[in-house]
Amino acid sequence: MCGIFAYLNYNVGRERRYVLEVLLNGLRRLEYRGYDSAGIAIDSDLTLEAQNDNGKCKPYHSSSPLVFRQEGKIESLVTSVYSAVDKLDLDLEKLFLVHAGIAHTRWATHGVPAPKNSHPQSSGEFDEFLVVHNGIITNYEVLKQTLVRQGFKFESDTDTEVIPKLAKFVFDQARDGEGGVTFSQVVMEVMRQLEGAYALIFKSPHYPNELIACKRGSTLILGVNELGGETSRHLFHDVKALTSNEKPKDLFFSSDLCAIVEHTKNYAAIEDNEIVHIKDGSVSILRFDNEKEMPASVQRALSVLEMEVEQIKKGDFDHFMKKEIHEQPGSLTTSMRGRLKNGIVGLGGLKDHMRTIRRSRRIIFIGCGTSYHAALAARPIMEELTDIPVTMEIASDMLDRKALIFKEDTAVFVSQSGETADTLHALEYALENGALCLGVTNTVGSTLARKTHCGVHINAGCEIGVASTKAYTCQIVVMVMIALAIGSDKLSTLAKREAIIADLTKLPEQVHDVLKLDGEMKVLAKSLIDEQSLLMFGRGNNYATALESALKVKEVALMHSEGMLAGEMKHGPLALVDEHLPIIVIATRDDSFSKQQSVIQQLHARKGRLIVMCSKGDASLVCPDGRSRVIEVPQVVDCLQPIINIVPLQLLAYHLTVLRGYDVDQPRNLAKSVTTQ
Ligand code: F6R
Repeated sequence: MCGIFAYLNYNVGRERRYVLEVLLNGLRRLEYRGYDSAGIAIDSDLTLEAQNDNGKCKPYHSSSPLVFRQEGKIESLVTSVYSAVDKLDLDLEKLFLVHAGIAHTRWATHGVPAPKNSHPQSSGEFDEFLVVHNGIITNYEVLKQTLVRQGFKFESDTDTEVIPKLAKFVFDQARDGEGGVTFSQVVMEVMRQLEGAYALIFKSPHYPNELIACKRGSTLILGVNELGGETSRHLFHDVKALTSNEKPKDLFFSSDLCAIVEHTKNYAAIEDNEIVHIKDGSVSILRFDNEKEMPASVQRALSVLEMEVEQIKKGDFDHFMKKEIHEQPGSLTTSMRGRLKNGIVGLGGLKDHMRTIRRSRRIIFIGCGTSYHAALAARPIMEELTDIPVTMEIASDMLDRKALIFKEDTAVFVSQSGETADTLHALEYALENGALCLGVTNTVGSTLARKTHCGVHINAGCEIGVASTKAYTCQIVVMVMIALAIGSDKLSTLAKREAIIADLTKLPEQVHDVLKLDGEMKVLAKSLIDEQSLLMFGRGNNYATALESALKVKEVALMHSEGMLAGEMKHGPLALVDEHLPIIVIATRDDSFSKQQSVIQQLHARKGRLIVMCSKGDASLVCPDGRSRVIEVPQVVDCLQPIINIVPLQLLAYHLTVLRGYDVDQPRNLAKSVTTQ
């Protein structure tokens, strides 16, 4: 949900062409977060003159930045930037010793996608303050009214526009008083007024060569690349100490790590209420406190990013979704690596809390969309191995109902991004009610990872396609491992646990096998492209498979699809059945196999148009008259079967999308991490 990015080179000497490419590439990496519109702000040549004048600030109108805003995807911004470069006759080879640029890709919340609603949002004439924003300002209407009374004119429909205008207001007031005001003082005063969730980056010609970023709620990453030497893991703590460091630097701000990995592996995750000030190539982190006048400076060591550039590239695949589906044998291996030893599951992130978890009165799984489905798939085994009742909560519904939650509960929060607003609000709610909160996420350093008491990373690798695929299967594997770890003290389930562990080790190979159905799924997709609707019937372990495969078809192929509990079929949905409506029935081997067989018979009796997924060798059992299409998959232990079964259906959704001519990786109206409620 919106991506923000900034680049500042200090003492490096970069051509304008390079600066533009870094900013636009940063946006390409973040585009999956939102793709309604985009924008950048770079320094004009006049700003360079201001820098050369001993770093003194010239009158602002002589150093206005160049701002480009464009509706549509990043590539439309790229086209408009380069045509402006030609029109303005901007010298792409112009060398900048220091250059501070900011960039934004938008998922619209306030105001339709349009250049005026794109970021950077501006303080007004001469762009004295420019801001890129990820999040939502909840008190923007009150602030807007106040600023309008002060004579400010608003041009956009966004909540963000109040921020640069507020910065100008603060700046003007301080400038009119005695003495100057630093960039961080301006931003601090702005933060004091803002309510809501945000990560912000500010740029101002009043402070050439400086950038400020701050956050509350939304994620913000700082990337540091010290050129010409190893980046020292020094602590950022105070501007003075760091200005002595003369090494040239490339510095970045980003909404996530994907956009910095090609530049540096050294990063710091910025915490809530922190302000990061880059000035003269040095970085200082200040902690904002509403009560205190003076911010405290914060020490922060750089972390090393464990991600390879290949992860964020498509490689030989046409789309990220296809790449990520095919990566599943590898991502599942990584998820399990180091966690299964000699038949024992070891999850370091839970060990200090295991006693409390085992004594829980109840386990509550909480998540949204695909993550909720992953939890639903893991629910049966969690109950079976732990003997603890497991309830399910969709995060937004839990908050709407203010569902009862107690301190004897263990609340398991599942989220690929770790930044989903609904899930994070539910987490706050559970924390307030005293539950033990456990996180299952793919994103190291995410808000979910930081705010839960304990947790397990799924280590699926960067997922860029908006439709979640490899994160789903890794989430299930991790939750199965959690169930194994919690239930490891029970003798009664030993045989089952051994069977699961044996199949876990074979799982990547089995998924590799099932991926060979790719061609078959394409043929199936061809037979379905013109359909209006597609139903998926599952039950037990595979109720989640029905819901998840229907969600995939809906969100990428833009075809109506419903996942249904097969046991509910005769209580209503049966009325829909005729010889036209395609229905996928999941009938792989487990305890509910015979019930699914009778569902198939009832559907056949009504001339249903069936596609049946069954275990290898069962085709004649599920389809004795040979009339239905059959998808045969390898059989594994019941709780891992949803991982096998979803793969052909992910492929089906993928091929349906391509054949129907829709955008696979960036489906209409969606964004990867939903950071608004
Ligand atoms: C669908 C999909 C979404 C997400 C949901 C929660 O393919 O990706 O349904 O699963 O928005 O996101 P996370 O897992 O990041 O909390």
